[in-house]
Amino acid sequence: MIQLHEYEIKKMISYAAEARERAYVPYSGFRVGACLKTATGAYYLGCNIENAGFTPTNCAERTAIFKAVYDGERNFEAIAIISDGVNYIAPCGVCRQVLAEFCKPDMPVICADRDGNYIIHELRVLLPMAFTAADMEDK
Ligand code: THU
Repeated sequence: MIQLHEYEIKKMISYAAEARERAYVPYSGFRVGACLKTATGAYYLGCNIENAGFTPTNCAERTAIFKAVYDGERNFEAIAIISDGVNYIAPCGVCRQVLAEFCKPDMPVICADRDGNYIIHELRVLLPMAFTAADMEDK
């Protein structure tokens, strides 16, 4: 597991909490915020953005990573996620797959509860045997 300093973890959770303020959640009322740190030390923030059609809803994690990828970022150090829930929020399956596209399997995923307590898992623990480009090689 890549070691992160406590102050860095707390900073990322507090940025994720700021992002949570921007959530657009007229249907669930459940706000989520994410803070993705790039290898160059930049922070990309995301919130969940819901839709009357439900399916087009975008999770906080994907908002953050898509913003970063659009800006040309391809290397990521860690992601922190916080919600309105009492439990540690873990990325949904779709977000795990999107993270696996761009992030190394040992990237720390910081899962916070609404009070800022947290647990950390490596991405590979959240998505074992991820399907990646390597699985499409023919030799
Ligand atoms: N949601 C996220 O933003 N991230 C997650 O990891 C889990 C779920 C959002 C999607 C939807 O807006 C709301 O939480 C309820 O599912």
